[in-house]
Amino acid sequence: MGSVAVIGAQWGDEGKGKIVDFLCRSADWAVRFQGGNNAGHTLVVNGVKTKLNLVPSGILNESTRCLIGAGVVIDPLVLREETARLRENGVAVSPERLVLDREAQLILPYHVELDQAREEKKGDKKIGTTGRGIGPAIEDRARRTGVRLAELLKLSELKPHLEENVEHANLYLKHVVGSSRVVDFNLVWKLVCEAAAEFAPYIGNGSLLLHTALSRGARVVFEGAQGSMLDQTFGALPYVTSSNTVSGAICTGAGIGPRHIGHVLGVAKAYCTRVGEGPFPTELHDELGERIRSSGGEFGTVTGRPRRCGWFDAVAMRRAVRLSGMDSLAITKLDVLSGLEKVKICTRYRLDGRALDDMPALSADLYRVQAEYLELDGWQGDIGAARSLEELPLEARALLEAIAEQSGCPVAMAGVGAEREAGFYAGAAGYLRSFTAEGR
Ligand code: GDP
Ligand code: IMO
Ligand code: MG
Repeated sequence: MGSVAVIGAQWGDEGKGKIVDFLCRSADWAVRFQGGNNAGHTLVVNGVKTKLNLVPSGILNESTRCLIGAGVVIDPLVLREETARLRENGVAVSPERLVLDREAQLILPYHVELDQAREEKKGDKKIGTTGRGIGPAIEDRARRTGVRLAELLKLSELKPHLEENVEHANLYLKHVVGSSRVVDFNLVWKLVCEAAAEFAPYIGNGSLLLHTALSRGARVVFEGAQGSMLDQTFGALPYVTSSNTVSGAICTGAGIGPRHIGHVLGVAKAYCTRVGEGPFPTELHDELGERIRSSGGEFGTVTGRPRRCGWFDAVAMRRAVRLSGMDSLAITKLDVLSGLEKVKICTRYRLDGRALDDMPALSADLYRVQAEYLELDGWQGDIGAARSLEELPLEARALLEAIAEQSGCPVAMAGVGAEREAGFYAGAAGYLRSFTAEGR
């Protein structure tokens, strides 16, 4: 039937996991293709909350197979804990349900130490990373010194490779970062041997499996992590993650060609949040920001940090739509804005008196832009039970319409609660409707 790419359109935490879980009701495969356990995706099904960092959000749908693709960096300790937690909650995690691409690379304890030590050294100038070793692991991939999962199947050859990596990391920690942290090779080796024993049966040729499945008409959901504004190439440096988060990353991270991407669904909140440092033009520093944070439960899934909150940013959104070729949008957390007198959308930035068509390329400029807003009437009362556009107050519908118009992309889904079923298709959902309707 085809595939849907679910891509974060803002600064992460847009509710991608919930949308992926929903779309997987009829999907054969759910695929992570970039990032690592910096991602935190929360699913709520029948009142039970499941937090996922590495395992694709299709895992709760029994007939969906999950692939962690070659573009993902995998911390074996995190994967072990996550799969154990899933099993405790009655979710079957077996090599039939979960495949780890043989070309994916490992995050090892020295990456975590490096990430944290560098952030400590930067002090006030820190990026505010999740401290999970993502950047250093991806640097190793680019430096051609990273460890592929396939190497877990040849431990005797891996040992000297790893000894060299640990030695390099310790030299870097001491002489470049000036840190007293030291990585013990024996601990790394023990961890790697345990990971090999546990995960060897899960390692497979993800690209080949996926290609074969797609060629036979399988339905595939690609699950993005982070958000378009955190993209390594297009985000505001250095306040970005280390991977490409836009839809193009699916090809290099899952090992398929662009023709296999059927529909690109951008996910955005009806407002904006971000965790970590960096420019955020529509940030609310007042009581309203506090109110959105508390009613939206805006605290990081991975680190528990309070998320910074602000108004919906259509400048950022137009950029995200363009960067990923988004076909439609899922607008989540509309319910969180209930009860406000007025709601706003940023339609344009100004910098030094000039109107801008796009975000400036440098963070120093993005910090200085002034956001211009379109103000709309808010609505009162709980909308959590709405299951169609018609059941929404007119003002909430007007907000969705304004978001679509300002973003240059139609809205196909809306979210009104954390539960799997708390949302509905809206307007331009043709592809998604047939993707989820056809099937078993
Ligand atoms: P992700 O990283 O993009 O998957 O998003 P997170 O899971 O980190 O953060 C989104 C949070 O909002 C999670 O706690 C979800 O359970 C919750 N959520 C998702 N959609 C909605 C929605 O429409 N309304 C409300 N109130 N919560 C939602
Ligand atoms: P999901 O998939 C929100 C942010 C971090 C930091 C920056 C770099 O749940 O949407 P990193 O550890 O990646 O080197 O940190 O990126 N960040 C996220 N913010 N949601 C995420 O993932 C994020 N993953 C990374 O807070 O600002
Ligand atoms: Mg998240």
